[in-house]
Amino acid sequence: MKASAARLDFEDPSLFRDAFARLFAVHPELDQVLPNSEGGQQLKYAAMMEVILSTLDPPEEQELELPGLGQMHVLFGAEPDYYTWLSEAVIAGLAAKLGDHWTPELAADWAELFSKVSAQMMTGAAALEDQF
Ligand code: HEM
Repeated sequence: MKASAARLDFEDPSLFRDAFARLFAVHPELDQVLPNSEGGQQLKYAAMMEVILSTLDPPEEQELELPGLGQMHVLFGAEPDYYTWLSEAVIAGLAAKLGDHWTPELAADWAELFSKVSAQMMTGAAALEDQF
């Protein structure tokens, strides 16, 4: 997976453009939540992908606090369903960019990774909501 990620430039604003255009067409409510203006502020894909990929590192190297990141995302307006939708769009974007380098195994691995990270973030979000 890291080898597949190394082929991509996550700072490139065009990377997920088509995948996100489809995402907003299907789920217009996300347009309110995600910064996506052309040429202006984009979702921090590079930061997001860095977080996702760093969870592949050995546990002793993990400094991440995914539940805390999930709590921050409550403030960003992220609802549980949005995690699934965003993950699917990002994975579709990766598949499109990687072309011949994309395989069913990679698709399954990326889906599993997104689902694990999302679940941990949502645990934090749910704990926060329980307090109020
Ligand atoms: C797959 C799980 C996700 C990861 C790993 C992730 C990661 C991140 C990171 C690392 C940041 C930057 C935080 C900072 O500025 O310090 C961020 C910002 C943000 N995320 Fe996520 N995110 C995820 C899912 C989502 C979802 C589902 C939504 C909403 C639909 C969302 C909306 C946002 C927004 C609105 C920002 C702020 C953007 C900005 O400041 O320009 N994220 N995310």
